[in-house]
Amino acid sequence: MTTIMKSLISSIAIVSVLMLNGCNDDKKEKKTAVIKQDDLKGQFVLKFSHVVSPNTPKGKAAIFFEQRLEELSNQRIDVQVYPSSQLYKDNAVLKALKLDSVQMAAPSFSKFGKIVPQLALFDLPFLFKDMAHLHRVQDGQVGTKLKEMVNTKGYIALNFWDNHFKQLSSSKKALIMPEDAIGQKFRIMSSKVLEAQFHSVGANPQMMPFSEVYSGLQQGVIDGQENTISNIFTKKFHEVQKYLTITNHGYLGYLVVMSEKFWNSLPADLQKNVTQAINEATLKEREYAEELNTKQFSEIKAYAKKTGNIEIINLTDEQKDAWRQAVSKIYPEFYGTDKIGEDLINGALATE
Ligand code: LMR
Repeated sequence: MTTIMKSLISSIAIVSVLMLNGCNDDKKEKKTAVIKQDDLKGQFVLKFSHVVSPNTPKGKAAIFFEQRLEELSNQRIDVQVYPSSQLYKDNAVLKALKLDSVQMAAPSFSKFGKIVPQLALFDLPFLFKDMAHLHRVQDGQVGTKLKEMVNTKGYIALNFWDNHFKQLSSSKKALIMPEDAIGQKFRIMSSKVLEAQFHSVGANPQMMPFSEVYSGLQQGVIDGQENTISNIFTKKFHEVQKYLTITNHGYLGYLVVMSEKFWNSLPADLQKNVTQAINEATLKEREYAEELNTKQFSEIKAYAKKTGNIEIINLTDEQKDAWRQAVSKIYPEFYGTDKIGEDLINGALATE
């Protein structure tokens, strides 16, 4: 809630109290009720920290959640959204959640690597046929099992949110066949799966926080990166890259998590409000993910046409197949239950 809104609410509260002061005794009870209601406004402060721009699926859904939860809770919960790594970078937010320094976050799956490595299931390249298949996995048994694992680590797993499929970009060499990646330095999130994925094509993966990718590309510390169209566009990576290949090779999504301490401090009615707001925000989030990735791809294409600074490469089926074969061979490396687990991988593959 903004400061202006807050002062407006407290002025309304003061006016109500003044008006009621002029009323006679039989209205006394009502007067107490009004004062109590106002006293409860902002009773709980929920800070929601994330690393992407406001104009992304996660950024927009966070704002939707803020408005909806404040409305449902009659402003008893004051939601404050901090985008663009303003509060915490990447997985640092998970430590902050544990300490209840921040109450909510939606880190991408890779960032849970040290807590629940099994969530890296979603990082496995070419595992999902399409977004519908992915949603069936998240909404089914595999998704439930993964959320339970997160809950046992002292977090409250709320829901899965989408970004979309990732694409590859580079300034060194156009990526058409897997061999084109040999020797190129790619930024990755902190993830064993992504490390293995780039090693499988002879590339050199470098872990780097999201907030440092633009300068890393601009200064040539890294040659390329992988991310969704929405993240590429909103962080302007396309302005510092020469080639963008539409590979849709892997998925980027999030698990929305809440501080356990905060959740336990909420009375049952407010917990219900949180659940309702997150369920509504999740439906919206999936729409934003489709809309924004499509719209922002048109913007990148328009930029490419106007400036000629970046070439967009669409792969043929054969070329895409060559990437699939090269990178999917890493699956068995993650069959161990302390990694991802064969059951979870097969469970996702077998999800109809
Ligand atoms: C990244 O680090 O590339 C992503 O996890 C950023 C995000 O949250 O979408």
